[in-house]
Amino acid sequence: MRVLFVSSEVYPLAKSGGLADVSWALPAALARLGVDVRLLIPGYPQALDKIAGKHIQTDLGDLLGAENARLIAGRLPGADLPVWLVDVPELFRREGGLYQDADGRDWPDNAIRFAALSHAGARLGLGIPEIGWQPDIIHVNDWHTGLLPLILAASTGPRPATLLTIHNMAFQGNFPAGIMPHLGIPGQRLHPESLADGLEFHGQISFLKAGIRYSDRLATVSPTYAKEILSPEFGFGFEGLLQHRAKDLTGILNGVDYGIWDPINDLYLPRAYGPGTVSDKKISKAKLQEELRLPIVPDVPVIAFMSRLAHQKMVDIVLEALPWIAGQAVQFVLLGEGDRDVENAFREMAHAHPEKIAVRIGYEEPLAHRLLAGADILLAPSRFEPCGLTHLYAARYGTLPIVRRTGGLADTVIDSSRQTIKNQSATGFVFDDATITDMITCLQSALSLYSEPLAWRRIQLQAMKQDFGWATSAQQYLTLYQSLTAQDKTIVRESDDLIFAQSVGQVAIGGD
Ligand code: ADP
Ligand code: GLC
Repeated sequence: MRVLFVSSEVYPLAKSGGLADVSWALPAALARLGVDVRLLIPGYPQALDKIAGKHIQTDLGDLLGAENARLIAGRLPGADLPVWLVDVPELFRREGGLYQDADGRDWPDNAIRFAALSHAGARLGLGIPEIGWQPDIIHVNDWHTGLLPLILAASTGPRPATLLTIHNMAFQGNFPAGIMPHLGIPGQRLHPESLADGLEFHGQISFLKAGIRYSDRLATVSPTYAKEILSPEFGFGFEGLLQHRAKDLTGILNGVDYGIWDPINDLYLPRAYGPGTVSDKKISKAKLQEELRLPIVPDVPVIAFMSRLAHQKMVDIVLEALPWIAGQAVQFVLLGEGDRDVENAFREMAHAHPEKIAVRIGYEEPLAHRLLAGADILLAPSRFEPCGLTHLYAARYGTLPIVRRTGGLADTVIDSSRQTIKNQSATGFVFDDATITDMITCLQSALSLYSEPLAWRRIQLQAMKQDFGWATSAQQYLTLYQSLTAQDKTIVRESDDLIFAQSVGQVAIGGD
């Protein structure tokens, strides 16, 4: 089984959030199951710097008008997986974020940048003679890679099967329709009406829509989110299309790479600890308090918040709750970046309550580890959460998560009640409504249990011994790949779509 895994980010080469963690850990887990998996990501400067064994694989020639496009080959440091970087200097080699400039504005040429990624992936999918490797499956991720299944579906001749994993319906890659002629979509000439319809979304074009419509199969990152996105509240305008494709949609829970996220072997911590040595967690707590210049007090509960500062993560409600939190016998620590106004509002709160609130704006991998180890509680509410990883990491560190009952959070945290503590199923705290009242009520129950050390320790141990490793989920992906390569090749996704029925009818399993 040969799989090309295409993503806009992968740890440790380039990361903005959970997608990078998944793009690292899932291919590694698939490789352990015997899959020949190779990655394709953009040639960002940091990726070009960090990739191991770097060498030029091949010239791609003209890629959407960009000259000097090349495929750089190497290996993913740490996971030892083959990775290709799409090296197009004018599109990807620039200072700033992966998707935005240093001021937080989307790069104006994002449509072209990620269309180029898709074209490079499609070329690999259709076979580049000097490479001598062709995938059976192309596994694409999120809107950045949404055009790839469309390009393949519109191509004539044998092509690999495609699977799109949707990590977040809120990010859709919508662009003004005028960009369409610059995207180099081959089928556009052949079949303009259907393709325009396939991309059109409220007068714009949507890369995510292309992915949803033209991938052979769809997955998302938790079973609950797979159901939620069929409704208007979570589908963000795509619920109709997703309902239409519901039989091809699966929810597969993300996993955790415990090689990276486990206090027993975490080199960023001052002292390792595990279920048998939980009391050593206090060393990490003191270190965190020291690092963030808070009073070093062992018995005051530390509540951590670590995420993109976005509406999705209920940052507005957390801010609103901060005066209440500052009035409790607690410390609150934040590590995050995002909305500039929100960043400033948090900074002001820290300024007003230096003994209680510490705020670190930015993206810091080592501190992320120390924060998960040093805190007692991870506040991880969300209006919607496709899966969520930080709360799964926190659980392994004995840091109890407070989550809202949605998406992957609902699938993975069991609320602590007298009964669930007694029957040893409690792993955190769960509330229902995205309101300050519900969130504070939940915080109050957590704080009240914190003052019962025996009960707290019981929940901690239960949380720490859970196994959210990738083995099960990677096996589910493999089963999905196998069903795709085995299936009748006459998949007709749109009965009105004659050209596609023909081209998809020619799907063949790529050979060397
Ligand atoms: P999302 O992908 O929606 O942002 P996830 O919970 O799936 O949420 O993944 C977030 C990832 O980003 C985790 O690996 C987390 O440790 C990391 N992360 C989030 N904010 C920061 C930050 N400010 N500094 C370092 N790592 C962060
Ligand atoms: C997205 C989601 C998050 C998920 C991550 C990895 O960023 O917001 O819930 O864990 O992707 O799949």
